[in-house]
Amino acid sequence: MSKKLPSRYGIRTMVPADAEGVARLAGLFEPVSTTVFQGIDAEDVSSWVRERLACPDWAGFVAELEGEIVGFAFCQDMANQPSGFVFPQARETVYLMYLAVDEAFRGQGLARALIAACEKLARDWGRSGLFLDVADDNPALGLYERLGFERLGAQVFLRKTIEP
Ligand SMILES: CC(C)(COP(=O)(O)OP(=O)(O)OC[C@H]1O[C@@H](n2cnc3c(N)ncnc32)[C@H](O)[C@@H]1OP(=O)(O)O)[C@@H](O)C(=O)NCCC(=O)NCCS
Repeated sequence: MSKKLPSRYGIRTMVPADAEGVARLAGLFEPVSTTVFQGIDAEDVSSWVRERLACPDWAGFVAELEGEIVGFAFCQDMANQPSGFVFPQARETVYLMYLAVDEAFRGQGLARALIAACEKLARDWGRSGLFLDVADDNPALGLYERLGFERLGAQVFLRKTIEP
């Protein structure tokens, strides 16, 4: 299952100075039904990233080409989250909250390498799995299933407008 990433790319742990590069990529999320970052200001995203990186239960990885960030993954340890979050075993996992690769660099194994870094992190943190959610109209679903993620179920988001 291990495919080699072209040697011009590097994968390393995310540091606060990466926040702006990460925010730029966050703007590239596919316009799917539940895109979280849609319409959010890049400055808000970079402060959000900096704040999370200051917490011990958050960590990220960036993919780099000649010092330029071309991909990232962002994870949260679920161990200290309130119980009952989505499914009981969630606390044994690391939540892969965000994953993105610059359009110009897709299809070369960067997401695969970033997910491998997240898997190593989960192992180092003593967790037994990675957990994520993805919109059912996001093509990334194909990547996750290709990399061995299994579906746990489906959730539908609903909204009712309350008249003033
Ligand atoms: C999803 C995304 C991160 C994939 O990045 P990538 O670097 O192109 O992916 P990789 O090249 O590492 O692909 C890894 C494997 O998944 C497969 N894959 C990638 N995209 C796929 C797709 N849309 N459908 C099916 N399989 C796919 C690849 O074929 C590859 O398998 P292989 O190595 O056996 O050939 C990228 O398309 C992206 O940034 N999308 C926008 C952000 C987003 O929606 N992120 C997910 C939010 S939950």
